[in-house]
Amino acid sequence: MATLTIDGLRKSFGATEVLRRIDLSLADGEMLVIVGASGCGKSTLLRLVAGLETPSEGRVRIGERDVTTLDPSDRDIAMVFQNYALYPHMSVFDNMAYGLRIRGLSRQEIARRVEEAAAMLGLQALLARKPRQLSGGQRQRVAMGRAIVREPKLFLFDEPLSNLDAKLRVQMRAEIRRLQRRLGVTSLYVTHDQVEAMTLGDRLLILHEGRAAQLATPMEVFEQPADTYVASFVGSPTMNLLRGRLVQDGIAVALDAGPVIALAGRYPGDRVTLGIRPEHLTLGPGELSFAVDLIEPLGSETLVHGRLVGDETVVVKAPGAVGAADDGNDPDRPRAYFRRHDRPAHRANRARHGTIAVTGGPDSGRGTVGNKVDSRADCRGDVAAGQRRNTLRSQNHPDVLDTCCPRR
Ligand SMILES: Nc1ncnc2c1ncn2[C@@H]1O[C@H](COP(=O)(O)OP(=O)(O)OP(=O)(O)O)[C@@H](O)[C@H]1O
Ligand SMILES: [Mg+2]
Repeated sequence: MATLTIDGLRKSFGATEVLRRIDLSLADGEMLVIVGASGCGKSTLLRLVAGLETPSEGRVRIGERDVTTLDPSDRDIAMVFQNYALYPHMSVFDNMAYGLRIRGLSRQEIARRVEEAAAMLGLQALLARKPRQLSGGQRQRVAMGRAIVREPKLFLFDEPLSNLDAKLRVQMRAEIRRLQRRLGVTSLYVTHDQVEAMTLGDRLLILHEGRAAQLATPMEVFEQPADTYVASFVGSPTMNLLRGRLVQDGIAVALDAGPVIALAGRYPGDRVTLGIRPEHLTLGPGELSFAVDLIEPLGSETLVHGRLVGDETVVVKAPGAVGAADDGNDPDRPRAYFRRHDRPAHRANRARHGTIAVTGGPDSGRGTVGNKVDSRADCRGDVAAGQRRNTLRSQNHPDVLDTCCPRR
């Protein structure tokens, strides 16, 4: 067990700069999830920590030891990859034992470690089988076992679940989290799946084109995204980003789509982007009028996609069922009526056009991020009272995305 410290890490392949300066430090036992779009440098960062690539600049320390120039085998790490690469001719036991034999551990010690890991992973009954006699999930478990038996200081995971089907992914995700907690091994976990990232990480590092866009806990990233990239990367469906203009001396925003939304803080600037999560919009009489163009029922909730005046798209996540109207006209054009909790068969919005009210969500969030909002206390009060919450990005300060909550 150990801490991990990464200082000013850069990596270029020829003229292409892939990592642009990463600073990071993990506490002992912490699980940090690196998440970002394909090609943003996640695997490269992991490979640099593992020693499979040499940094162009910067240092890597595991505990007090500077490992920047050490061979992978001297770093005391274990890696689990998407392609778990088990030896096909070896039994499960031998696959797990192989690395320990190479390191010259005693027979008894090897048996102890393999049996202990097999018990943790529910593999006891499968130790004599060959990889081809296992399901995908079981193979992934063997790969985990092979990492665990090494009793490393650091686990590195590179998309270890992406070969599994959706149900198994969810199950293995929970298993990995339990195991990591139980073993208390400091871990770096790479994924491009934001749900995996949110559920697994003590903290997230959002990588965007080789830069750290944000490093924070999952809830901080969700509630106080550092910029519009993070805002739209985390959360599903993605956050609605609506264009507008600050009015009333910066305490309200007039959306291009129509309504004026009051804000808790005072913002500098002129043109802004207002971010509203789909779950913080409710269908019903409200300020924003929109044309429904797609309804996606998910069972416990429904996604309603639409277009605002000016053709901006908007998505609303409504709890429960939202049905299509049955008035028989023009069946190809989507229409919707909305079943609300309080009124089971409410049909007020049974039409091709509806309106959306900006009405808050189940926020427990904090006040603000960045330095452009001066009324933290107000904001917090609003949130605690279950009021709406929006995110405002000042175009004059493109690197700062301020989070705030509209006034009541
Ligand atoms: N050995 C290499 N030589 C040249 N370019 C490389 C090399 N390895 C990676 N790259 C480039 O570096 C960038 C980052 O690659 P990396 O594998 O780290 O991405 P990633 O975030 O893991 O993506 P994915 O989600 O697709 O696995 C890519 O543009 C890739 O083409
Ligand atoms: Mg990768």
